Amino acid sequence: MKRKSTYPALVIHGGAWDIPDDAVDAHYRGIQKALKVGWAILKKGGSSVDAVEESIIILENDSTFDAGRGSFLNSLGEIELDASIMNGKTFRAGAVAAVKNIQNPISLSRLIMEKSEHILLTGLGANRFAKEHKVPFCKMEDLLLDRELQRWLKLQKEPDYSTKDAFRMKQRKLPSGTVGAVAMDKAGVICAGTSTGGTPNKYPGRVGDSPLIGCGTYADSSVGGVSTTGWGEAMIKVVMAKTVIDIMEQNGGDPEDAAKKGITILDKKAAGFGGVIVLNKKGHIGIAYNTPRMARAYITSAMKNPVIEVE
Ligand code: GLY
Repeated sequence: MKRKSTYPALVIHGGAWDIPDDAVDAHYRGIQKALKVGWAILKKGGSSVDAVEESIIILENDSTFDAGRGSFLNSLGEIELDASIMNGKTFRAGAVAAVKNIQNPISLSRLIMEKSEHILLTGLGANRFAKEHKVPFCKMEDLLLDRELQRWLKLQKEPDYSTKDAFRMKQRKLPSGTVGAVAMDKAGVICAGTSTGGTPNKYPGRVGDSPLIGCGTYADSSVGGVSTTGWGEAMIKVVMAKTVIDIMEQNGGDPEDAAKKGITILDKKAAGFGGVIVLNKKGHIGIAYNTPRMARAYITSAMKNPVIEVE
């Protein structure tokens, strides 16, 4: 049976990991607010690019998540952020990697998408572009949470700590609160975006999957959109976001099947952990993850109330 189109539609995530019991409520409230803000834009005819940017700004400003304020520190005790956004109609994309002193890297990514001839700017170049376009700078302290300082101090006493071990050996205990959103507006344009502080104690300059188009983010309005969360090195190995899009292009556009198959590939080929949100060209949604929990929320034009889940 053919399913009806259900757009506008919006799906967001706030990370896939072993979210502790005492953090479930904060994750729930954070994604609920982000979904509400993005949905209000789409419902009144706004663009999917606006909905994705504004939803992600809410999550970057919410210190519950590993994005913007509340991000993990790198091994030097600094905060370096990654983000990307892609417009599935124009195929234009913008991204920043290892950028410092910017509270909302998703907005800087959008500026790069719309006002530069490039896609990905890193570190000093990204800051220079931000300055030229009057993006406000913040102090590192504005992004820093005592929770993360304490985590960093603890890790300095564990010289053998590695992200790989934290993911593989320690029952997927590595915190991974990357955020993302995929939206389809009334005009049928799909946009996807992702933002993260990366992994705890990462090497300075380390870039994960989130700012890499095809790995953390992808949008093609003729197929669908994807945002990922989880262990970036593994996501990069299987080019996760584009892999899921390719599966959906071949399976008749089934987002649930594509999300599940994507996670199976991540697991089998890269021993990776994480989650994926998927939206197809009809506004149907798919979500899959292989971590104990994933914070995710969605709503479409066919639904009276949103689905918001952290289990
Ligand atoms: N998926 C986020 C990161 O590994 O940086």
